[in-house]
Amino acid sequence: MALLSTMAVARAQAAEPPAEIKDLVETCAACHGKDGVSVTEGVPSLAAQPDVFIQYQLVFIRDGGRTVEAMQEIAKKLTDDNIRDLGAYYAALPAPPPIASDAHVDDAAVAALIQPRHCDSCHKSDFSGQGETARLAGQRPDYLVKALSDFRAAKRRGRGMGTMMEVSVTLRDEDIRMIATYLAGKP
Ligand code: HEC
Ligand code: HEC
Repeated sequence: MALLSTMAVARAQAAEPPAEIKDLVETCAACHGKDGVSVTEGVPSLAAQPDVFIQYQLVFIRDGGRTVEAMQEIAKKLTDDNIRDLGAYYAALPAPPPIASDAHVDDAAVAALIQPRHCDSCHKSDFSGQGETARLAGQRPDYLVKALSDFRAAKRRGRGMGTMMEVSVTLRDEDIRMIATYLAGKP
């Protein structure tokens, strides 16, 4: 019991943003959900994304390297300090819970798509992400489908390295759906 209540306290504290970004985080939560876990179609969860990934994306969105209409207004107000604080805050939140699906996922078929494209070498074998590379585990499947489709169509440039374009260009719609279902279901 004692241990459990200590853990509950630690979790609640981790979810409390520092004063400098408290108001901002409330605005973000309107779309990205409480504690960075999205309940809105098309909006990604941010909880447990790598600090550097969050910071890069916010800079891209603010400075125009990535177009996110819904964030245009808020992004242009973000200072570099805000972006650093937001990166640290979301990275420290507990990861989103895995999202189960009724759709059958054939692990062997998914592995046949993922292994030759080395998705896990950048995103890590547990798909928790690292550095500038996104966490994919537990992400909303509808958002994963959108992100992969955007890369495939060269609509999202990101860092402009082209890797995500290269790995997605040969994926069919049903491959993308299968990968998204698989990744969303990972803890
Ligand atoms: C009005 C809704 C809205 C608000 C408010 C909003 N966002 Fe977003 N955000 C989005 C949507 C939608 C996307 C996904 C865009 C896409 O499909 O590429 C996104 C994408 C992102 C991404 C990229 C994540 C990824 O996995 O690619 C980050 C980081 C982010 N938002 C952080 C924030 C932060 C921090 C705030 C508050 C300062 C915020 N957002 C406020 C809607 C919103
Ligand atoms: C060489 C490294 C590398 C490989 C291989 C790679 N990725 Fe990525 N991936 C990245 C980086 C870096 C980003 C962030 C790109 C950006 O800045 O827009 C990313 C972004 C993504 C995103 C968007 C996540 C988000 O929250 O916005 C998805 C989805 C994704 N990758 C899936 C995959 C899948 C599936 C594979 C294999 C088919 C794969 N990646 C292979 C490096 C890689």
